[in-house]
Amino acid sequence: MNLRRKSIEMIKKYQHQSGAYVASPNFPTYHYSWLRDGSFIAYGMDRVGEHESSLAFYRWVHETLLNHEEKARRALDQHRMGKSVGPKELLHTRYTLEGREGQEDWPNFQLDGYGTWLWGLATHIELTCNRQLLQDLAGSIELTLEYIQEFWQWDNYDCWEEFGDKKHPSTLACLYGGLKAMERLLGRPELGQTAAQIRQYIIDAFVFEGRVHKFRDLASVDSNLLWLSLPFGVFEAEDPIMVKTVEEIERTLLFDGGGVHRYAQDTYYGGGLWLLLSAWLGWYYTQVGRYEDAKAIRTWIERQRNANDELPEQVPNHVNDPDYIQPWVKRWGEVACPLLWSHGMYLVLDEEIRRGEG
Ligand code: BGC
Repeated sequence: MNLRRKSIEMIKKYQHQSGAYVASPNFPTYHYSWLRDGSFIAYGMDRVGEHESSLAFYRWVHETLLNHEEKARRALDQHRMGKSVGPKELLHTRYTLEGREGQEDWPNFQLDGYGTWLWGLATHIELTCNRQLLQDLAGSIELTLEYIQEFWQWDNYDCWEEFGDKKHPSTLACLYGGLKAMERLLGRPELGQTAAQIRQYIIDAFVFEGRVHKFRDLASVDSNLLWLSLPFGVFEAEDPIMVKTVEEIERTLLFDGGGVHRYAQDTYYGGGLWLLLSAWLGWYYTQVGRYEDAKAIRTWIERQRNANDELPEQVPNHVNDPDYIQPWVKRWGEVACPLLWSHGMYLVLDEEIRRGEG
């Protein structure tokens, strides 16, 4: 079956009645809904006109955040009073499908999803002209805006749930994107001012040798740096900084005719090629007129589906370190498949290519 239709079906099928998108139905560790995965899945659904599904997700986020408002308010108050706030007192990156915090140990303090959901919601509102949502969801929008403004300068785990003692350009880009989107919709210049500070921080801390780096003191690159351009717009796609960053991603992380690593030292399941990142690179190509390259990536992704048309999180076609595959399989089982985020990003890429072709 056509993978676009199948992806839409799959995402709908595994969307919980609460509105939450499970990260992966067949991988116990991923039986949660992440703000990050969910917002990009919702964006994919919005792009193909499945607005009911994305709306249900955003309503779920709203309810979930309101259920944790007391906790967030306590953290905000403590911090404003100059008191210390521990990692356990901060909001989580993922919730059960019923909207509760998970109980097991997890690197929960990750800020990126809080920016991403605001950006996704704003995009949904713009695509559907449903401005009423700004009022309906005002409580969770305001809470998130305060939370981001208070804590954006804190070290936190990145979108790969690693390196919690650092700041990350991709995470900062998500926060920037969320603030800019809400500045636009709500007409609140102070949000744009914080966004401008974040952008300046990214430039000061992570741009050297003419490109963006994963860490401030290392000449490293991560495919999530694509997010700085798409969708969050810290840099335009044609900005020389972005062009040089993408060249580095292509030079060091792109293999097998369309597969993309997260970063060169990644050893999660050996560190294979991530479908959702391939879609991101293809998406970037559509923005700079490289449609043939984008289509080649789309074909590469389509080739990775299994007999049930499911897309995994990653494929072991070119792994950074094969010694790490078995230990992970033993710990958590086979690579997550289907991963709903892979399907969501496939929809984004497919839609961009179709639009480009007119
Ligand atoms: C990834 C996260 C993702 C989670 C659920 C993790 O392995 O690093 O980015 O949110 O899986 O898909």
